[in-house]
This record gives sequence, structure tokens and C-alpha cells, in this order.
Amino acid sequence: MLSIDAIDTFYGQSQALHGVSFDVAQGEILALLGRNGAGKTTTLRAIMGLNRVARGAVRFDGRVISGLPAHKVARIGVTLVPETRDAFSLLSVEENIQLGYRKGSPYTLERLLEMFPIIREFRSKKGGELSGGQQQLMVMARGLAMGPRLLLLDEPSQGLAPIMVNAVADVLSALKRERLTVILVEQNLRMALDVADRVVILEDGVAVDSLTQAAALADPGRVEKHLVVH
Ligand SMILES: Nc1ncnc2c1ncn2[C@@H]1O[C@H](COP(=O)(O)OP(=O)(O)O)[C@@H](O)[C@H]1O
Ligand SMILES: [Mg+2]
Repeated sequence: MLSIDAIDTFYGQSQALHGVSFDVAQGEILALLGRNGAGKTTTLRAIMGLNRVARGAVRFDGRVISGLPAHKVARIGVTLVPETRDAFSLLSVEENIQLGYRKGSPYTLERLLEMFPIIREFRSKKGGELSGGQQQLMVMARGLAMGPRLLLLDEPSQGLAPIMVNAVADVLSALKRERLTVILVEQNLRMALDVADRVVILEDGVAVDSLTQAAALADPGRVEKHLVVH
């Protein structure tokens, strides 16, 4: 579905991605792992059209989408849930989610509340009153309401209390059952390996390894050596 072919990305003169390549098949969950500063967020933003791809190409269904503005990439069916978890602070959770809804999306508010009953508990709260975990669940629901064909999740469990990490993990399991195509950036290796079909590892802007879930579970050191600071 998605094919990233040798992309280079810069911030000013400083190169953040060096010829990064990987593919994501329809229905697959791909975990994109790496230390802080490895280029994970930059990769998601490059796919989304928020960071310019200087060389190489991003293809979606065979069509080159690198070079398109983000709103066009969104219209094609790619949704990014960023680490910033932006909520409209004066709107309720329900209103926040409904703002994301696009006609034709299978993820109506009713369906999302069924899938993620925990959201019911705070559905009437204002965006500005939510805990970090509640905010994360809300922005994931809002992203789904857009009806994406490819969902990009940037560190959904980051900084969350353990109970909310579990809630995020439940959402990921639900997405896997739904066979939604997902790129998951995650520092929580265990959570990533629970759901990911495949793992791609970035180091200093280079894709240094790519392995199946089974290979990663059989040899966690092969992944950890790129995550842990030595
Ligand atoms: N807005 C920016 N301006 C300049 N450099 C940036 C910016 N965002 C990220 N970088 C740099 O690009 C590299 C990759 O960052 P990032 O993609 O955020 O990494 P990750 O998400 O893996 O932690 C890092 O060296 C980071 O300092
Ligand atoms: Mg990041």
C-alpha cells in the first residue's frame, strides 16, 4: 500500500533522513523504532507531506504522493496522530471526535464509543480538562473518525500512566483485528512487538534493520541494541 523509496529529508542544512526505504502492506501494522532523534517523527511527517522529501519518493497505491500538500495526502486516506495530541480545549471529547468525522468513515462516534468504552467515562469532559491518557485516546478516536486507510501513530503511549498505556494497547489490538494499516512509532518495545507484524529500525536517519515480529520476539537483542543507549 505504502512504499517509501530512498527518501532524504532536511531541516535547513541538516539532513534528518538518509535514503530511508521500507514498504507497508495493506492490513499490516509496522512498528517504526529507534532512539530519540533517530528520525521517526520526521519519517511520519514526510509521509504526511508535512516535511519536504528532497530526494526519493513516497508512493501510496503506486501513486507518488511525496510533493503533495498535507491536506491532499489526508484526502487520499492517510491520517497522522501526532505526539502533540492537540485537542480543542473548549470542546467536549465527543465534539472533538466528531470534528474529525468524514463522510463514509466506518468509525462513527457511536462505533468508536463501542470499540473504546473507556472513552465513555470522559466523553463529556472538555478537551482542556483531560489527562494525558484521555487526550491520547481522544485523538486516536478522532483520527479514526477520519476513516483513514493508513494511520500514522506517533508514540501513543509516551508519558502515560500504566493503566492508560493498557488502554492504548487495547486500541492497537482492536486496530489489528480490524486489519487497519498502521505505522506505529513507539518507545514501549513490548507494546510495539505485541501488535506489529514487522519492525523497521531507524538509527541517525538511516533504516538499519527490518525484521518480522517473529524474528524480533526470537531475538529481542537485535532490536534493543538500537534502542538502548550504550
Ligand atoms: N523542527 C526541527 N528543526 C531542526 N531539526 C529538527 C527538527 N525536528 C527534528 N529535528 C532533528 O531531526 C532529527 C530527527 O528528529 P525526529 O524525527 O524528531 O526523531 P524521533 O522522532 O525519532 O525522536 C533529530 O536530529 C532532530 O534533532
Ligand atoms: Mg518523535
